Amino acid sequence: MHLSSAPTPTLHWIQADQPHSALWRSEAGVPPPTRVVMADDTLSAPAACHLAAQGTAMLWRGDFQNAKQLLQAMARRLDAGPARAFRRLDAGPARASRRLDGKPAKPAPDLLTAFNQHRMHQAQRARALGMLLLPFEAGHMLPLRRAPDVQAACTEAYGPSDAPYVASLRELQGLIGAHEWRKKGVNIPSLGARIHPHYGVYSPVRGEYLELIAAQPLPRGEPRGEIGFDIGTGTGVIAALLAKRGISRVVATDTDPRALACAQDNLARLGLSRQVQLLKTDLFPPGRAPLVVCNPPWLPAKPSAPIERAIYDPASQMLRGFLAGLKDHLTPGGEGWLILSDLAEHLGLRSRDQLLGWIADAGLQVLGRSDVRPTHSKTQDASDPLYAARAAEVTSLWRLTAID
Ligand SMILES: C[S@@+](CC[C@H](N)C(=O)[O-])C[C@H]1O[C@@H](n2cnc3c(N)ncnc32)[C@H](O)[C@@H]1O
Repeated sequence: MHLSSAPTPTLHWIQADQPHSALWRSEAGVPPPTRVVMADDTLSAPAACHLAAQGTAMLWRGDFQNAKQLLQAMARRLDAGPARAFRRLDAGPARASRRLDGKPAKPAPDLLTAFNQHRMHQAQRARALGMLLLPFEAGHMLPLRRAPDVQAACTEAYGPSDAPYVASLRELQGLIGAHEWRKKGVNIPSLGARIHPHYGVYSPVRGEYLELIAAQPLPRGEPRGEIGFDIGTGTGVIAALLAKRGISRVVATDTDPRALACAQDNLARLGLSRQVQLLKTDLFPPGRAPLVVCNPPWLPAKPSAPIERAIYDPASQMLRGFLAGLKDHLTPGGEGWLILSDLAEHLGLRSRDQLLGWIADAGLQVLGRSDVRPTHSKTQDASDPLYAARAAEVTSLWRLTAID
């Protein structure tokens, strides 16, 4: 199945005074660079950074391993610059601490500044590193010295290839990383199994929220345990967990074809294909259920690439859509379980009062909440520009029900 959602426009360049062109691939939706020069093992990192800053792409003809080293050296140079300046804004965890009543303290304005600068730096960094390009031959073959076999990784993300194309080395590294994760899988202790994320699909690698779902008693709504909805299923991990907990029929939705293909693959591996029905649907499937679970993107900001859409959602559209439609999809006494990190509150991107307002406006009430602190490495990395917010982050399972 061809799963690539990226268009394939054309890249043009001049080589030995002759015009050349090839298909251009960018899963991040970056348009083909308009200025392209040939580059090889003689190119230094400062010269490459200079070209990238001017918007000139470098089409690599040298040794593949040297291209990797050049990209690393470029990344080091880019990280040594602006990142240093805004790291100083971060004065430690106290700035994003919680009040005694459990509500986050007013977010420090400098954390929002740090977040915006961090995003801008990330975008500039991605743009510059994306300027080192590789030529591919049909069949995803790299005609470069010491090049690895990248056929499987490229086929998984791009589908089959019957024509030459150009893509950035940075994009290829993302494809290879995703291929390795897909092969290896992510261990999910609450499921007692591994989940295999596909390229571009949200990976439950920080899976503390799954423990919350596993520990929460099933609601008393009728028909109890017979049906549950998983809204925005991604890899299918929550649907699988609900099925393993004994819900005899789970309907799982997503709008992303890659997510649905990935969920189908995982559910088949787990022998749950008959118990879980997958639907390509915006938010809810038709009908009602005593349990409706949703883990929406948690940061209301613009994604800088399609693969960030599981995390960044402008104006909290999915979260608000879920809350607004939940009441009409619950059976009497049923519960909606919303999984949500409060990182946006610490960054000043969304307030707790706003969230509570959306819940009330949707005719819902909060039955309870269970919390977990993320344990991933960034919560302990004091050099991360968003450390103060990450160190204070709590992920919650909100139990919601319709007001009678
Ligand atoms: C944060 S990920 C969660 C994935 C999975 N449930 C998990 O917990 O690992 C959010 C998912 O919602 C999906 N999504 C975004 N907007 C949606 C919508 N309007 N309707 C259904 N799914 C949506 C995304 O494609 C993504 O797979």
